[in-house]
Amino acid sequence: MDHECLKQQAAAAAVAEIVDGMVLGLGTGSTAAFMITLLGERIKREGLRVRGIPTSERTAQAAQAAGIPLTDFAQDAVIDLAIDGADQITSGRLDLIKGLGGALLREKIVADAARRLVIMADASKLVTTLSGIVPVEVVAFGWEATSRKIAALGGQPRLRLTADGAPYRSDGGNVILDCDFGAVSEPAPLDEALRRLVGVVETGFFLGRADLVLLAEETGVRRLARGE
Ligand code: A5P
Repeated sequence: MDHECLKQQAAAAAVAEIVDGMVLGLGTGSTAAFMITLLGERIKREGLRVRGIPTSERTAQAAQAAGIPLTDFAQDAVIDLAIDGADQITSGRLDLIKGLGGALLREKIVADAARRLVIMADASKLVTTLSGIVPVEVVAFGWEATSRKIAALGGQPRLRLTADGAPYRSDGGNVILDCDFGAVSEPAPLDEALRRLVGVVETGFFLGRADLVLLAEETGVRRLARGE
């Protein structure tokens, strides 16, 4: 089975967690795109009454196209269930790296407001140690100075660029530094050190936030709960 089929299966398992009346956090990325489509189908088929807060402009557009009513934090203070993808996942604490899709700041705001965060992924995302690229969203002004401070923490930051070579801008207008820290066996102190730096808006570390990971494997969707 290819990655796309597995992502779709993980998304289907996540959509099965949704019940009538929920306020949802709608994640970003290719797995989240499957979730949006499948949720739209459930709304049409079952008349499910839910509303969602999207984690990016592209998710907002996809949700509208799929017939998912949208809401915002002015109308809904609490999200019942946030559903999102991830780039790397460790079992046990369910620590994550997110943000290769560039939506990490809104994703973290939504995750923070959610009673429950469910992550859907294909099995390739499960790792024993978080490692490699950690996306870090930084203010565009002075990003070079911020980048040097990140390098002093042991990372190798690289400014994310668009296909035409311009600096990538997040929905919030910030830039993203893709920082290679190698293997990070203790991510919490690094996350704290990064977030203390002036100019850093948010990191792609999502530590101890996920409640459940739905991991699609060849043999079916495995449920990993935090702490197991
Ligand atoms: C978006 O900013 C990311 O955090 C995505 O959730 C993450 O990159 C997973 O994306 P895919 O589902 O496309 O692998």
